[in-house]
Amino acid sequence: METKELTTSPADLTTAANLLAAGEVVAFPTETVYGLGADATNETAVKKVFAAKGRPADNPLIMTFGRADQLADYVQVNDWAKLLIKNFWPGPLTMILPVQPGAVSPLVTGGLATAAVRLPDNEATRTMITELGRPIVGPSANTSGKPSPTTAAHVAHDLNGKIAAIVDDGPTQVGVESTVIDLTVDQPTILRTGAIGQSQLALALSEKVLDATKPTSLADDQRPKAPGMKYRHYAPDKTVIAFDPLDFQALLGRLKAGDAVMANRDLLVDLPEQISSWSLGDDWRSASEQLFAGLRYFDDDPTVEQIYVQQMPDFDIGKAYNNRLQKASSGLHFRP
Ligand code: TXA
Ligand code: MG
Repeated sequence: METKELTTSPADLTTAANLLAAGEVVAFPTETVYGLGADATNETAVKKVFAAKGRPADNPLIMTFGRADQLADYVQVNDWAKLLIKNFWPGPLTMILPVQPGAVSPLVTGGLATAAVRLPDNEATRTMITELGRPIVGPSANTSGKPSPTTAAHVAHDLNGKIAAIVDDGPTQVGVESTVIDLTVDQPTILRTGAIGQSQLALALSEKVLDATKPTSLADDQRPKAPGMKYRHYAPDKTVIAFDPLDFQALLGRLKAGDAVMANRDLLVDLPEQISSWSLGDDWRSASEQLFAGLRYFDDDPTVEQIYVQQMPDFDIGKAYNNRLQKASSGLHFRP
């Protein structure tokens, strides 16, 4: 199939909405990463999303909405959800809520009695979904196991010829996937870190918020978790090694041909010219925006074998960045 390249013009968004209505798969922009959309109420269309991504069928999908007022037809909107909608939507926060009985296909929920819902901070995408009139499923638009796409070119790299269209709205702003919070348990619980952090959520809810992504003393089978967390994620084909910026001088002495470095701009000034580099900008926000793009860039560079990537302070979105880096490197860490 030929994958159409669409813009965010009103005519193109109508084309995209019509393709979705016809049961086709369309990639769409969000503020976090690009998503892979299909009518969430059409099982044949949802199956095409799993097929295009190569995604395991027991990993449930996010339902992505164009307007918050359509939520109640599909999930039970409790008081916590109302507070979070008021404070953070549209924005990089996904909420897990109980489904309205019979309202959502088990293909979408992975057979769970709960569903993940999200209202992205991207006007073109909300317009497209509102034109369709129903929510769409919206997993990240990468081949399963690859870093999430932050540009339309990344989506085309993985899925060209396999999906009907890509709506291009330029590079995404946040760069890492939305925070996922479970609101179906006794205490609100973070299942995936993202731009919206634990303290912001606790403040908005006036509640203690638990973080299930932190190491705990609970046995593995007792820990709440996002079903997707058990899969290898964000992993490029090349070897990825995390490093502490305090160890950068030691790393410089050990770099060899085939190594590449991703780091903040101030560190890169000391890098020898023959070593390939990707700038993570000036802080942890720009680093989050650039992480997946840099990993994908070096993955496609045949001269690169190992990618050294700078860790960020474990603070604010730096936490989500370090979490994605940890997964991409399978825990590999440079020791001076
Ligand atoms: O930023 C994002 O959230 C992006 C953009 C495209 O919106 N989407 C995204 O979707 O990252 P996906 O499918 O790649 O990640 C959804 C995560 C998975 O880890 C999945 O296991 C979890 O949410 N999830 C979905 N439904 C769930 C449920 N009912 N209970 C617990 N976790 C759930
Ligand atoms: Mg994903």
